[in-house]
Amino acid sequence: MNASLRPNPLRLGVNIDHVATIRNARGGDHPDPVRAAEIVARCGGDGITAHLREDRRHIRDDDLARIQAATDLPLNLEMAATDEMLAIALRHKPHAACIVPERREERTTEGGLDAAGQHNRLTPIVNRLADAGIRVSLFIAPEERQIEAALLLGAPVVELHTGEYAHATGEQVAIELRRLADMAALAAKNGIEPHAGHGLTYDNVQPIAAIPHLAELNIGHYLVGEAVFVGLEAAVRQMRDLMDEAR
Ligand code: PXP
Repeated sequence: MNASLRPNPLRLGVNIDHVATIRNARGGDHPDPVRAAEIVARCGGDGITAHLREDRRHIRDDDLARIQAATDLPLNLEMAATDEMLAIALRHKPHAACIVPERREERTTEGGLDAAGQHNRLTPIVNRLADAGIRVSLFIAPEERQIEAALLLGAPVVELHTGEYAHATGEQVAIELRRLADMAALAAKNGIEPHAGHGLTYDNVQPIAAIPHLAELNIGHYLVGEAVFVGLEAAVRQMRDLMDEAR
């Protein structure tokens, strides 16, 4: 069942970047992330997430238009706060743009965006995206000062970085979970829609899915990895079932 039909819906956005990573390893056109997007659309995904990186290590420019043409699912474009990415977002007009920090040398998006420290840099980018009707999200650590900064910037959405939670062990797991739940509640109280993502798996998704204020999870690497063994459809369905069960 699609999330919009459930009483307290939690949307699943599927990040298909790593389908493109596998494609790019050989430089050809297989496997095609567009085919992944089509599968996600048929099997319970609520959105497609793709991160166009400065170095184009996975999704490429032409993938965006092809994904948009192939499915009606909302596209959430993850992008760095640069003029190049702003111009691309304005050209493609995705449903949403999630502003993420980006460092060339990192393997994945390692920390949250410093929305508090980069207010002046982010203001024109957030405003121009919003003026174009694109729903702006900021990928931030679950910290009060970052929520306050998102509020000042007028961002309608924050995505809370779950990486610290995903990597935590022992007593730290409950601490990270509390932080995420508290910051989701704080965002919601201030009229900001909280989402979450990064490092989520079958094993760790349920406590996150149980946080009542969260409206969306974005999950990629684990699903594409599982898809190698069971197929993308089965992987997405299982994640969807686990999320629903926890809700
Ligand atoms: N959300 C954001 C903003 C991301 O940048 C990413 C990928 O780094 C994800 C969610 C998905 O993370 P993962 O691939 O670990 O599921």
